[in-house]
Amino acid sequence: HHDAVTYARQHLIEVVAHRGASEDAPEHTLAAYKKAIEDGADALECDVRLTADGHLVCVHDRRVNRTSNGRGAVSALELADLAALDFGSWKKTQTPAGDRGWEESPDWEESPDPEDTSVLTLERLLELVADAGRPVGLAIETKHPTRWAGQVEERLLSLLKRFGLDAPPAEGPSPVRIMSFSARSLHRIRAASPTLPVVYLMQFLSPRLRDGRLPVGVRIAGPGIRIVRSHPGYVARLKQAGHQVHVWTVDQPADVELCAELGVDAIITNRPRQVLSQLGRN
Ligand code: G3P
Ligand code: CA
Repeated sequence: HHDAVTYARQHLIEVVAHRGASEDAPEHTLAAYKKAIEDGADALECDVRLTADGHLVCVHDRRVNRTSNGRGAVSALELADLAALDFGSWKKTQTPAGDRGWEESPDWEESPDPEDTSVLTLERLLELVADAGRPVGLAIETKHPTRWAGQVEERLLSLLKRFGLDAPPAEGPSPVRIMSFSARSLHRIRAASPTLPVVYLMQFLSPRLRDGRLPVGVRIAGPGIRIVRSHPGYVARLKQAGHQVHVWTVDQPADVELCAELGVDAIITNRPRQVLSQLGRN
């Protein structure tokens, strides 16, 4: 029996804050990302969508209904419409973590700065990361990219380019990687920026993927934790094939333990603070 925590320490599993520190603060807000950086997360995960007027914003759902006081599809709203909404208050009415079997997390206290809970543009998030004062990675997920026929990827890469993040630095790993459930979206990214790492997300393990192969040019697999739980041999197969493994969304201590034992490369979690402490990192 090997000690999973020792293993994690030695191999430094990357801890990625899913939608920011989204257990403690409203997902995809500046508040959640500031908290994740404060908590010591190695990287931040975010979903991006295009507004009607072509801005990339960090919103998970197709509509803003669940996470704001507004209604409608992001793609039908302009940035100015989104800027008038409150993306923080909904969090106060959420089921407390304790009811989901976790330890109680602190209640979400609304910040006095309205920017902390207003719609977050990817540009603002890139600025936050640039000003973090330490290296912080970014795992950016393209959502419903087929709808826009390449526009999401095009805007994304041109924005990354402005920050000098559209390709890895001369030395060392890329601080940015692009993730998607859509192989087509990753293909577009690779065609335009071949050295930027891409992650192929999977919700189910299709027979086609079982042997550990990934879409052409993809070196990082992003299986959901359910896949890892039900097919524990799959991680080893991916690693044998030379791939990295980034698992989402890993919130339960037993799943963190499992991921550490299997030697995954990154854990994507809503609770970076707790996962870092379980891994002996804080
Ligand atoms: O990190 C990948 C994970 O976020 C994918 O699922 O629905 O949370 O975007 P979802
Ligand atoms: Ca996501």
